[in-house]
Amino acid sequence: MKIAVGSDHGGIHLKNHIREYLKAKGIEVVDCGTYTEESVDYPDYAAKVCQAVNDGEAERGILICGTGIGVSIAANKIHGIRAALCGDVFSAQMSREHNNANILCMGERVIGLSLAEMITDTWLRSEFAGGRHLRRIDKITALEAMR
Ligand code: RB5
Repeated sequence: MKIAVGSDHGGIHLKNHIREYLKAKGIEVVDCGTYTEESVDYPDYAAKVCQAVNDGEAERGILICGTGIGVSIAANKIHGIRAALCGDVFSAQMSREHNNANILCMGERVIGLSLAEMITDTWLRSEFAGGRHLRRIDKITALEAMR
């Protein structure tokens, strides 16, 4: 599995931590930045990670900012993206099984490193359940055409 990771300055420490955590597990990682603590705009990094997923460069993506809110709002504007902001393990599992989330969002200023690792592990190993949930995902996709 190949995972794209990205963050703004508010999420850079957790993003770097998760990048190394995944690499240590043998998971290939595309780091879309940011690479310094200089203040940047989170929509730019949401766009980079979502583009990597939509282009097939990565199967799924992980986005981090201070709260996780900005990157999740930005990512969910992009065609084909279902970004889930998760601060607990149950939500991480459900976001895959029920919502087929292809982007995991977390907030560096909200959760600790160990919880972020558990959320990431759970999110990566959980699979979409399909069935009735597929109908709902199709309805979400249809909303992309709504103005
Ligand atoms: C940056 O200070 C902060 O606003 C950003 O990381 C994020 O929390 C926005 O939602």
